[in-house]
Amino acid sequence: MSTTPIPSGATLGDLETPRVVVDLDRLEHNLRRQQEICDRHGVELWPHIKTHKLVNVARRQLALGAKGLTCAKIGEAEAMLASGVRRLFIAHSIVDPRNGPRLKALAGQLDQLILAATSVAQAQALEKVLAAVDLKVDILIAVDTGLGREGVRNEEKARALVETVRCEPHMNALGFYSHEGHTYSVAVEEQEAAFEAIHQKLDGIRNACAPELSIWPGCSVSAPVMATKPNVHAVRPGAYCFGDIALCVVSKTLRWEDAAVTVLSTVVDRPTPELALIDAGSKTFSGDKSRLGISGLEATEGRLQVDRCNEEHGYVLGEGVDKLQVGDRLRFVPAHICPVLNLADDVVVVRGEEIVDIWPVEGRGKNR
Ligand SMILES: Cc1ncc(COP(=O)(O)O)c(C=O)c1O
Repeated sequence: MSTTPIPSGATLGDLETPRVVVDLDRLEHNLRRQQEICDRHGVELWPHIKTHKLVNVARRQLALGAKGLTCAKIGEAEAMLASGVRRLFIAHSIVDPRNGPRLKALAGQLDQLILAATSVAQAQALEKVLAAVDLKVDILIAVDTGLGREGVRNEEKARALVETVRCEPHMNALGFYSHEGHTYSVAVEEQEAAFEAIHQKLDGIRNACAPELSIWPGCSVSAPVMATKPNVHAVRPGAYCFGDIALCVVSKTLRWEDAAVTVLSTVVDRPTPELALIDAGSKTFSGDKSRLGISGLEATEGRLQVDRCNEEHGYVLGEGVDKLQVGDRLRFVPAHICPVLNLADDVVVVRGEEIVDIWPVEGRGKNR
């Protein structure tokens, strides 16, 4: 679905800036690569849609073979129904009784709704939400594999949570999941060992507490490797579809030429020879910086960087900045792609320089 009619032959040069630009061929490459790894190892792919928030991308992920979609919030799940998805995992700690009617309505439009149990206290609160609307769902139990966020930290806590889930009448224990987001900070040469330790923890807890349940790790850095490890039932990467500085430069999970989303911007002033100001700031790039300490890296040569942002200004520094002129247009790969999509009304879809579509970001702002 597109929002704006595009004159045939329109190119990026015809657009006002800033704009978020999706390269269709790179997106397709990234989607296929992870799907092929999963297919080769008989592992299900449940992509996390919080990165793209786009029905068109969800539809493509499902067409390529994804078994279901992962969402962070009920609102994202509702927004993705238009993709035709039949199986959804909401990977968040749901506790609010007001959520019950929406969960019931959502489940009524799906073959499978999976929810998360992240601690005994949270599971007991979730049971009340489900009981109030008489809804029984499959449950994945969260294991903290190093991020230090939600999930059981050890076997003892895992046993207690499995027991709770098994006793609650509106829950059916399905497996264990983790989000290994801390692997974004692991040095490339130490990744292999980190992935092994994560797998050992997740599979160790499964073996000790409930060997009949499955394991579902989820993170773009680890997913290509996790999909090759024993007993992994499904992986749930999100940012792999687009890439960003974190995935294409820091963790090197994707190649630089796989970065599928750029921010198109215009140089609006040159206050000093070593500084260019662009019209994209933190309201486009978000406030997130990469581990390199920057908001964006110029997409073709990577020599210019968005060093910092105010709301509507980006400060561009780097080699060749003195040659930039007011009115020049630059494309930058963002530091962290997920919040960038959440800030955009729509994205411009291109093949090369040619605009092929404009997609509304249906899941934008759906954080309830
Ligand atoms: C629970 C959960 N699963 C999966 C993901 C996907 O991670 P990534 O975008 O790094 O692939 C996230 C990301 O925050 C998450 O929180």
